Amino acid sequence: MQISLKVGSEPPGQLKLDEFLRLNVPEDLSALTTAISKASITVSDNIPFKSGLLAQTNPSGETQKAIDVFSNDEFVEALTATGAAAEVASEEMEEPVRSKGTISVAMDPLDGSSNVETNNPLGSIFGFYDKKLPASGRSLVGALYVTYGSMLTLTVSFGKGVHRFVAVREGPSAEFQLLDVNIRLPDRASVFGVGGTREDWIPQVRGFFDSLPSRGLRIRYCGTFVGDYNQVLSRGGVFAYPALVSKPRGKLRVHYETAPIAYINEQAGGYSTDGKMNILDIQPQSYSEPSPAYVGSAPLTKELERLVSGSS
Ligand code: F6P
Repeated sequence: MQISLKVGSEPPGQLKLDEFLRLNVPEDLSALTTAISKASITVSDNIPFKSGLLAQTNPSGETQKAIDVFSNDEFVEALTATGAAAEVASEEMEEPVRSKGTISVAMDPLDGSSNVETNNPLGSIFGFYDKKLPASGRSLVGALYVTYGSMLTLTVSFGKGVHRFVAVREGPSAEFQLLDVNIRLPDRASVFGVGGTREDWIPQVRGFFDSLPSRGLRIRYCGTFVGDYNQVLSRGGVFAYPALVSKPRGKLRVHYETAPIAYINEQAGGYSTDGKMNILDIQPQSYSEPSPAYVGSAPLTKELERLVSGSS
């Protein structure tokens, strides 16, 4: 179902995020989204100045950067201050931070931070669940992602279509304004990207992606899940972090990365699979459980699912 925008008195192009939230989204989700939008401006301002490595790792064993910890702390503080979060779980923390609200938030506060030095786009991902975690993507009541690239954008869904806001600066402050409403994956797929190395992809995945250039798709890979998915959403196609021979469960984490993006992708008319089932139906047993991810235009991801599950 798509949203029928209640735009108030503003022309749609100038609709501000807070007005959109006030008119279209329940109060607790609205408060959490506003908190994320404000913190994302602070994170964006700090990315160029906090790229150094820290001598510590996150719960998945990845080396943390100062900006990973800074982003995590900014978002945790902003989200818990709303009073709307029951817990905030993060890829960067062993244990969730408990609070007094009702919504469980799972987040990847800085997706793709290994790309800081190469200046590729970065992102943040958030899922809002109405159940205690671990929970399946069917308990999501909203999801959003931030892109820190040539534009600072917020792409949101609260179960009624996908909408994108862009940060506009006015003097020292910035605010988010509506950029795109009811975003749908284009019918014609034109790009694809795949994580890991070709030698390590399982054979069905290798065969499928090898066939795409002759089917008219171009490879576009930036190495940040949010950036790679964002271009699939705009241009149509598929992004995969597949099952690897060396890592059959892939790399991306269900709560922090794949389920929120699968939720947005479904709202945009797409389909996301772990190779066997809809990512939204996965019932994770732990906070950091990974899953292979094939996300994007439904005809392509359903074809991949048939190949990977051995049903074709
Ligand atoms: O999970 C972190 C991440 O940076 C994702 O954003 C990205 O899709 C993936 O890792 C890239 O991994 P690789 O370097 O193995 O292709």
